[in-house]
Amino acid sequence: MIPTPTDLLVRHAHVLDPRAGLDSVKDVRLTEGKISEVGENLRGTRELDADGLHLFPGFVDVHAHWRTPGREDEETIETGSASAAAGGFTGVVMMPNTDPIVDSPVVVSGLARRIERESRVRARISAALHVGLKGERLTEMRLLREAGAFCVSDDGLGTASAGVLRNGMMYARSAGLPLILHCEDHTLATGVVHDGVAASLAGIPGSPASAEDVATATALVLAAETGARTHITHVSTTLSAALVAFFKNRADVTADTTPHHLTLSDDLISTLEGLYRVNPPLRPDADRDAVGEALRTGALDFVATDHAPHASEEKELPLEEAAPGFLGHETAFAALYTDLVLAGKLALSRLVEAMSCAPGRWVGEGGRLAVGEPADLALVDLSERWTVDSGTMISRSSNSPYLGRTLTGRVVGTIVGGEIVHDRTGAQLGTRG
Ligand code: DOR
Repeated sequence: MIPTPTDLLVRHAHVLDPRAGLDSVKDVRLTEGKISEVGENLRGTRELDADGLHLFPGFVDVHAHWRTPGREDEETIETGSASAAAGGFTGVVMMPNTDPIVDSPVVVSGLARRIERESRVRARISAALHVGLKGERLTEMRLLREAGAFCVSDDGLGTASAGVLRNGMMYARSAGLPLILHCEDHTLATGVVHDGVAASLAGIPGSPASAEDVATATALVLAAETGARTHITHVSTTLSAALVAFFKNRADVTADTTPHHLTLSDDLISTLEGLYRVNPPLRPDADRDAVGEALRTGALDFVATDHAPHASEEKELPLEEAAPGFLGHETAFAALYTDLVLAGKLALSRLVEAMSCAPGRWVGEGGRLAVGEPADLALVDLSERWTVDSGTMISRSSNSPYLGRTLTGRVVGTIVGGEIVHDRTGAQLGTRG
């Protein structure tokens, strides 16, 4: 539950919001859940000393699997939202591949009530595009919207055929719901890792990049034709990124890529560890770098984590048998700051735009540090080095591909609607008053 807001003054933070043109030390006043003043030498009754810290608009993650309903042993709304808050996320979109699947108004409204009670951050619901995610019968999107769905997606699965997808786009458009598309052609995606040299050396069946590229091309062509508002998620190949760029001004289309596709590659296949199975699979270095370049130029609009918790018995298996997916919320900023910003490949301002401003624009709320905007903020220590450890993960699961890695940059506090929802120090971040 998002607690009742009270006034708070964040003092001496290095405020960075490229969209608002802010990049300097400021004081920020939060009043009744909104940003009420950005200035210097401000004083308040309740102050948070942010000397030496950076303050960003809260991150927004449009791709999260909180496994609720059905797999609360892997994640709950409480633990998923706490994990998101620990990563600086103030808003998320929850995917519908749960049990039961979020494909009927009663499941949507039940989930909305649980979010209201249990979530620390602003969680939105993606309902299914097709009943049972089967790619056959369209869901009742107008009713799903009335029940509280924010968008539709069959994430976890690609779409059965172009004709089916085209109908879905037309109905989603008329129902006023955007689509989030997982682009995968299942006639091509027959393996478990990327089909390349690393897969051959390990003797593990691979799926070609075309499994993603063919589906991405189909989705983009249909988005242009139908006018449906379409978001392509977890873009992981050179060609898919180029296709998105080509369609940018020809369709109502946006796209994201993930922290893991930006920082890891298929050389991890040689470990043979199930931990590293993910869908779409980790790609060769050339794809990782091309996707990074597309994020830098804005061809890919933003980052989404595809936070996908799995029980240890589903991951501590050989690659072929493991469930695909990685935790994402808690390491996203640090992994990207360490591997892209500190490596000189991406400006910090573009990273903030890609984690806050652009996804905030996509959901229509947040991602902006300006007077009158919701007081949704992430407070980050850019100098802290920390080692990713399964024992300290806040998620109920621990399947992070960064386990054991030392990263730089750590979220120390997260504020939603003016209230501190994550405080790593556990000491109210030194608030006074
Ligand atoms: O690796 C993945 N895991 N990719 C998906 O598309 C679904 C997700 C999950 O639900 O575990």
